[in-house]
Amino acid sequence: MGQALEKFRDTTPNIPSLDPERVALIESEGLEVKQLEPLGFEVYGADVRKKLPEPVIEALSVEMANRGFLVFKQQTDLSSSELVKASEWWGAREVHSTHGVHPATPDMNRHIFRCSNDGQQGILGVGPQWHNDGSFEAATFSHSAYYMARAPEGGGGTHFAHQGAAFDVLPKEKQEYWQRLVSVNATTGVTHPLVHTHPISGRKSVWLHLGMTGAVIERLPEDGVPIEELQKQDATRNQLRLLTPDEMRELFNDYNDLLNGSFEMGFGIRYEYNTGDLLFIDNWALAHRASPEAHKPPHLQGLRIMDRVTIKSPRNLAPHFGIPQHMQIYSPNPFNQDGVWQFGGIGFRWKEGIPMQN
Ligand SMILES: [Fe+2]
Repeated sequence: MGQALEKFRDTTPNIPSLDPERVALIESEGLEVKQLEPLGFEVYGADVRKKLPEPVIEALSVEMANRGFLVFKQQTDLSSSELVKASEWWGAREVHSTHGVHPATPDMNRHIFRCSNDGQQGILGVGPQWHNDGSFEAATFSHSAYYMARAPEGGGGTHFAHQGAAFDVLPKEKQEYWQRLVSVNATTGVTHPLVHTHPISGRKSVWLHLGMTGAVIERLPEDGVPIEELQKQDATRNQLRLLTPDEMRELFNDYNDLLNGSFEMGFGIRYEYNTGDLLFIDNWALAHRASPEAHKPPHLQGLRIMDRVTIKSPRNLAPHFGIPQHMQIYSPNPFNQDGVWQFGGIGFRWKEGIPMQN
């Protein structure tokens, strides 16, 4: 194990294989499913212009929750409205669009967030650090679609890490500590638990935005009271405190090291796209970041055009301990004054000299 990985447990992370019964159901529609290792799966033979039967969509969404993501292969030349329609199969069955629209967006469809390594073609430099989409929302997107309208010849994929497996490899004391933490978004003041229980898989999963977090609140421990009990109780003000700059740096570096270590520890994948790949992630189960190659210019890498659609969640990603879902991040720090309370932009900068953008 690399040096940064020594702080994590040397256990084999559990990412369940595709369930044979669900695979049989999916394949009864003429599709072919291929499990990727160590996570994700590809689906061949689909045409997402035609809606799949509801039980198949249900089976796919359970597998997405378990394995993080799926890819419908060979879906070239989807129109903007076809892409949006296929995105409405998941989550709350509607899209949730919070972004600006780049002038090169097909049909100027406001539900499509067009990313590119050419500023004329789309928005540059999106998502270089580990994150989940829409963390500035209380109801963080349940799923996201990444449609590779044009894959760059030189490569430029996305890194994915399974957040349930990530929790499993944390040492016991960090599992306990992280479950007592709640992050505050730097631009909206929305709060999210650092560890949540996934609504479909039931797995405890880590969750933090490395480029948009302004504060982290700790619920202080109580001797002999298990975390599950603490989470059910409303904390008083003096049972809550903010992490200090040193504690924030340690937490963010641990989180980054944990997900960076996902490739070696067996719960991360570097996915390279073909043109026409339509990838959906379960955004509550899977963290992601653009690969460094994704942002290299077209003359080095080839032109990359990726359309993203974000999907409404049926529920809020709500914090424990009676902490409100929204805090006034632009108001003065209401907690201990040595704690970090950083509003605006990328929030707390935990490492100098690294690119951060959403
Ligand atoms: Fe993203």
